[in-house]
Amino acid sequence: MAAELENRQSGDTALLMQAFEVFTHASNSLESAFSQLQSQVRTLTEELEAKNLELEKSLREKQEAQDYLRKILERLPCGVIVFDQNGGITLCNPMASDVLGAHTAGSLLPETRGFFAASASADLTGKEIESEFSLNGRNRVLATSGTSLSNEEGEATGTLHIIRDVTEMKALQERNKRVERLSAMGEMAVELAHEIRNPLGSIELFASLLVKELSGDSRRWAENIRIGTRSLNTIVSNMLQFANPVQAELSKVNLHDVIGEIAKFTEPIMSQRQVGLETCLTARHPVISGDHELLKQMMLNLVFNAMKAMPSRGSLIIRTRDIGTKLELEIQDTGIGIPAEYLDRIFDPFFTTNRNGTGLGLSVVHQIVEKHSGTIRVTSEMNRGTCFVITFGREPQEGIL
Ligand SMILES: Nc1ncnc2c1ncn2[C@@H]1O[C@H](COP(=O)(O)OP(=O)(O)OP(=O)(O)O)[C@@H](O)[C@H]1O
Ligand SMILES: [Mg+2]
Repeated sequence: MAAELENRQSGDTALLMQAFEVFTHASNSLESAFSQLQSQVRTLTEELEAKNLELEKSLREKQEAQDYLRKILERLPCGVIVFDQNGGITLCNPMASDVLGAHTAGSLLPETRGFFAASASADLTGKEIESEFSLNGRNRVLATSGTSLSNEEGEATGTLHIIRDVTEMKALQERNKRVERLSAMGEMAVELAHEIRNPLGSIELFASLLVKELSGDSRRWAENIRIGTRSLNTIVSNMLQFANPVQAELSKVNLHDVIGEIAKFTEPIMSQRQVGLETCLTARHPVISGDHELLKQMMLNLVFNAMKAMPSRGSLIIRTRDIGTKLELEIQDTGIGIPAEYLDRIFDPFFTTNRNGTGLGLSVVHQIVEKHSGTIRVTSEMNRGTCFVITFGREPQEGIL
């Protein structure tokens, strides 16, 4: 009985051992299959991550390229507009919107539609077409060139147009043409002025001879001819000086001599107009390095202006004084005065309030003063008078350093 029991027990143990062995084997192969699976999952995950990274990179690159293109389109100084095959807008940069006016729901405003109809009918060879049209009440000139677009299969997908607003450029070109015409006229005027100057000089000379020969009324008439021709001569000289400034021929000039010449010359007209001339020449060494003729032209312009400001009665006062190393010349009148708002403009070329004036007088005076390294300033009071003050550097006195 005990032996039977022992036999059954050893049979069970063998069976258990066998079962255990099968279990161990199964567990081993399960483990290896699991680790294989794990490594496969890892590889796949890595591959997936790499693919994801690649995808992200390509998306980022695409986005960057798009941003780059958008920035270029935004900053382009010309308009870019793309139409699809049905004429709908697929792209329109800010400049194009600006130039063409707002476009709603992908289509153009009626005013600009005609413009593209014309350029679309062109053969889109990149040749620029200019058209003028009115947008929001403003006339615009636009130049456009077009290119047809196609996909990879070569099928037409639309057209791309580059638009330039050439309104300003066109206006500038027109202005340039006008300036060219004016400058040609200016050159002609200068030639004419040269031609006029010689006979004027002769008339003035003959009038001076007549003044010496004649007396009474005839003498006064001759004086009027003389002053009239000199006034004309000053206008012609101003024109020439303005158009073609001559170099100053410098020598020692005594300003009191110039004042004497001008006073003697204008004395008859002053007495006719009852304008008294006062001179107060206190400068002790009135010598400057200057151009005698130009200084005379400067003085004549200032005196003629003063005369125009005093059509009947008045005083003209000419003063000189020493101010340290400088010499000051003052020309004062008791005329109509200059309105405060004009004081900044009187030296501008062509500024005039006189119906027959050229407005070149003071601009030439300014030029001449500058040629002598001097300065000019003006003070004026309405209906009281005007005073021009010119300051020159003085020539060193001989023997005095
Ligand atoms: N002494 C003055 N008194 C009052 N106004 C003056 C005087 N001098 C100049 N002006 C003003 O300055 C303007 C410009 O003077 P400017 O000499 O340049 O030209 P103009 O005298 O009008 O013409 P032009 O010199 O060709 O005869 C004058 O039109 C005038 O309005
Ligand atoms: Mg003048």
